Amino acid sequence: MKVLVIGSGGREHAIAYALNKSPKVTEIHAIPGNPGIAEIGKCHDGSVEDLQGILHFVEENDIDLTVVGPEVPLCMGLADLLEDHGHKVFGPRKHAATFEGSKAFSKEFMIRHGLPTARYHEVNSYEESIEALREFSYPVVVKADGLAAGKGVVICEDEMMAKNTLKEMLVDGVLAGAGKKVVLEEYLTGYECSLLCFVDGKTIVPMVYAKDHKQIYDGNEGPNTGGMGTVSPNPFMPEGMDEVLKRDILDPFMKGLEKDKIDYRGVVFIGLMIENSQAKVLEFNVRFGDPETQSILLRLDTDLFEIMNAVATQTLRNVDVKWKNEHVACLVLASQGYPGSYEKGKVITGLDRVNKDIIVFHAGTKMTDGQIVTNGGRVLNVCALGSSLEETRSKVYQAAEMIEFEGKYYRKDIGLN
Ligand code: AMP
Ligand code: GLY
Repeated sequence: MKVLVIGSGGREHAIAYALNKSPKVTEIHAIPGNPGIAEIGKCHDGSVEDLQGILHFVEENDIDLTVVGPEVPLCMGLADLLEDHGHKVFGPRKHAATFEGSKAFSKEFMIRHGLPTARYHEVNSYEESIEALREFSYPVVVKADGLAAGKGVVICEDEMMAKNTLKEMLVDGVLAGAGKKVVLEEYLTGYECSLLCFVDGKTIVPMVYAKDHKQIYDGNEGPNTGGMGTVSPNPFMPEGMDEVLKRDILDPFMKGLEKDKIDYRGVVFIGLMIENSQAKVLEFNVRFGDPETQSILLRLDTDLFEIMNAVATQTLRNVDVKWKNEHVACLVLASQGYPGSYEKGKVITGLDRVNKDIIVFHAGTKMTDGQIVTNGGRVLNVCALGSSLEETRSKVYQAAEMIEFEGKYYRKDIGLN
């Protein structure tokens, strides 16, 4: 089978790596891919937002399955376009992708179908937002409704910060269309957990839990990033949560899809806040998490192609999805300055010196004159399996020391905080 992976990050490298283990997969292609993916497949120039270009590629190359990594092409309708031309896709159609494309859509769905989530108020103008602020105490969470590349959620410590943020989004338009509508939300405390599930519209199969580390600095300080590292299992997850999550979240989610006639096939990534063994939904994403996927897929013990094919054809109930009873850590090596501005083009050395059991996914790299150089904020994902969190931590931190590039930065407390 010929598979096409859309995207260029560590998530897409991890997906390609898992697909490459499938005996059914004969060719891996990526648009645009990265130097890591190029070691196991063929990368092709192109934009993930060029839907017609992707359709053309699929038809020219007889691709059997297209796997879509990022949310933007899904929200633009890539799955619809490919499917409507008779091609198999892993990733939801546009309507279902609205779970990520609109916070208001998600919140309304959760309230309508009884999923636990933070109290909220949707507003469409600055005046309305100032009025609604009175219903909340501080901190309050301000969320732009639309896709904002990770910049759409601001936790506001006081009234002044809240008003400034609301003015920036609703009056100054700093997030353009994404901030025309805003959701004000009650601030929740507890531990976060990323729950990713395969879903084919009829059956939902939760993956193993992962813990992301969103802030840039140790001790969960500083601004949010796309994620600085993950561990799986999630060490903060209380015992016995499987049943609670099924009853309170997964079952109502599936019933809600059915009632609302939403054809959801792909991954649903449910961001959870857990406190006192109760879970509330922070957000839905309609794709694999990055860098959750890197940890999660290294624990997968079933053919990923088989699962993805079953999701696309609504036969997931026939697949027994199994997991390795091992720990994985994934450490992000980032460019100094990220998530703000940073330099690119720094030569990366030492990739050949890390131990054989370390898996390094490329996240923001490119090949220039035969050398691998930095090309993004998150550059590499250093991953290891082990029998304990301590073992995986010690493996990835040792490897992180062997890889060098100017401005290399990483958190020291993955799995601990
Ligand atoms: P979201 O994109 O909605 O997941 O928000 C990004 C991050 O903001 C989450 O991973 C949390 O760390 C934080 N966050 C979002 N909503 C809330 C909330 N209601 N209470 C506390 N933190 C939140
Ligand atoms: N790591 C968080 C995300 O992928 O949204």
